Amino acid sequence: MPRARITGTGSALPGKIVTNADLERMVETSDEWITTRTGIKERRIAVEGEFTSTFAVQAARRALEMAGIGPDELDLIILGTVTPDFPFPATACIIQHEIGAHNAAAFDLSAACSGFLYGLSIADNYIRGGLKKKALVIGAEVLSRIVDWSDRNTCILFGDGSGAAVLEATEGDSGILSTHIFSNGSFWETLYQPGCGSRNPGSCGRTIDERLFYIRMEGNDVFKHAVRAMEEAAFAALNANDLSASDISLFIPHQANRRIIDATGKRLGLGEDRVFVNLHHYGNTSSASIPIALDEANRAGRLKAGDIALLDAFGGGFTWGSALLRW
Ligand code: COA
Repeated sequence: MPRARITGTGSALPGKIVTNADLERMVETSDEWITTRTGIKERRIAVEGEFTSTFAVQAARRALEMAGIGPDELDLIILGTVTPDFPFPATACIIQHEIGAHNAAAFDLSAACSGFLYGLSIADNYIRGGLKKKALVIGAEVLSRIVDWSDRNTCILFGDGSGAAVLEATEGDSGILSTHIFSNGSFWETLYQPGCGSRNPGSCGRTIDERLFYIRMEGNDVFKHAVRAMEEAAFAALNANDLSASDISLFIPHQANRRIIDATGKRLGLGEDRVFVNLHHYGNTSSASIPIALDEANRAGRLKAGDIALLDAFGGGFTWGSALLRW
């Protein structure tokens, strides 16, 4: 049976940096509070004329370049996002057009911060099943457009950007060993965007008056569930492959909060040297966070042939999941 291997990674971020000091001037907060509660120091924010597809296209081109394949060789494009360019058509179709991937089927999927891992799981299964040979999985967000910049509980957390990975069918030992995805919809109201869907359309006055187009979050609830769920997903991956945490060369978790990452790393018994962290630079970029981190780790030479890497995500829905890779 073929296996899917990641042969290229890419990422792209806005040039504009918003620091904690900048936020101190916008809401009642402090660099000290944000740093100790989240670990975030700055985030990248899209400017006018930059959209989710802007960064996704750049990340996709970089991933294709590293893989050394042309866009028309792709037969599948999956974009995880909660901030598409438009409700429809799928932003993945816009990306397909922009990069010239004329032979690919393209669609978006909505799994919040787990979007990239959900996409990886789908692409992996298409490739294992022999139905597709070369896939592009992207996570991309412009969360700054759905963040309430007057709400200190949420505006300090999020950032914009994109990461992408090219997957190719291989008969070798390296590649994606397993993926696991989970959901629990009973918590859908814990982290969501109330407005701009069919319940509260963007066109209705209530959506504007009650600021329903912004992210709503019960931070404490999200925090508790995130640690438990990420531990569950990590052990699902290890158990399915008869491996233990000591086999992990690099743990690449979703970058939401330094305390969530540290607590999960601790439950796995991993030292800091085996945990990849870049959220101090980018904040929580939702579906983009894991592929940006994967690309940075890859380009920094932190993934060597044969290394075991564990990707682990949690997000709104709730959704969560993991992917275990042999590099
Ligand atoms: N600056 C200063 N004070 C702030 C603040 C800010 N930016 N945001 C909240 N506070 C205040 C609160 O108002 C509260 O004050 P009070 O005690 O007077 O009511 C106090 O800080 C503590 O708030 P609390 O919500 O209990 O803090 P916390 O330790 O839970 O940290 C989060 C808040 C949001 C950082 C934390 O819950 C978190 O990271 N949750 C997960 C969020 C997440 O990752 N979401 C995406 C998942 S994919």
